[in-house]
Amino acid sequence: MSRRPIIAGNWKLNKTHSEARQFLLKLRNGIAGIDNPPEVLICPPSVVLETAVDATREGGIAIGAQNVYWESAGAFTGEISTEMLESLGVSHVLIGHSERRALFGESDEDVNRKLLKVLSGTLTPVVCVGEVLAEREAGKTEHVVVEQVKNALLGVAHEHARRIVLAYEPVWAIGTGLSATPDQANTVHGLIRRSVGAIFGDAVADELRVLYGGSVNPDNTAGLMAESDVDGVLVGGASLDAGAFAGIIRAAV
Ligand code: 13P
Repeated sequence: MSRRPIIAGNWKLNKTHSEARQFLLKLRNGIAGIDNPPEVLICPPSVVLETAVDATREGGIAIGAQNVYWESAGAFTGEISTEMLESLGVSHVLIGHSERRALFGESDEDVNRKLLKVLSGTLTPVVCVGEVLAEREAGKTEHVVVEQVKNALLGVAHEHARRIVLAYEPVWAIGTGLSATPDQANTVHGLIRRSVGAIFGDAVADELRVLYGGSVNPDNTAGLMAESDVDGVLVGGASLDAGAFAGIIRAAV
């Protein structure tokens, strides 16, 4: 099964309107002419989404949100709906990033509600899972990741399962400079693929793209991407520099 890779950048709480525009123009030039390019996705802060969609109209770069709410409208101060994102031309959305879970109290149940809402519309969800260091050291990685995946997918209709992208982001590797090794990543990715296969069958599992995130840079991308179950990367810090991010895209092909 050949799965088209996804190289995604998560800007987190970074970049103003003009910085975003400059970055995207530079990235567009930086990746022009790549043969057989992967899917390239940038997830800027929500206030910059419209600018980002506008700056990428020529294609080649998809724009995703970093978060979304599970209600369509109402008295939910500060939240953003799937309908709002769709109306801007946003195509993807991250769900359950570890920073949302750790800093903003998002539970597996919240992640599941968000996923079900996203799947009722047209956005492509990128569902993030991953263990913290204490869980890895206690030998609980497998259990934690499988539970997060299963809980996220509760009640997902079979016909929607093919749209889901998963991202394995071990929390100990995020922003630390200490990436998982290609072998560590591939082991967990295989586990995620089998968990999805156990719910939705082999055909869905074969098509599922599982991204790795956590201290990805231009130098470690090729090694990660060489693994059989690594279908792309989700990049934080190194996605803030257009040159470095273009380097990651080039290293991935
Ligand atoms: P870093 O690439 O900075 O480790 O961040 C990874 C991440 O959280 C992407 O969502």
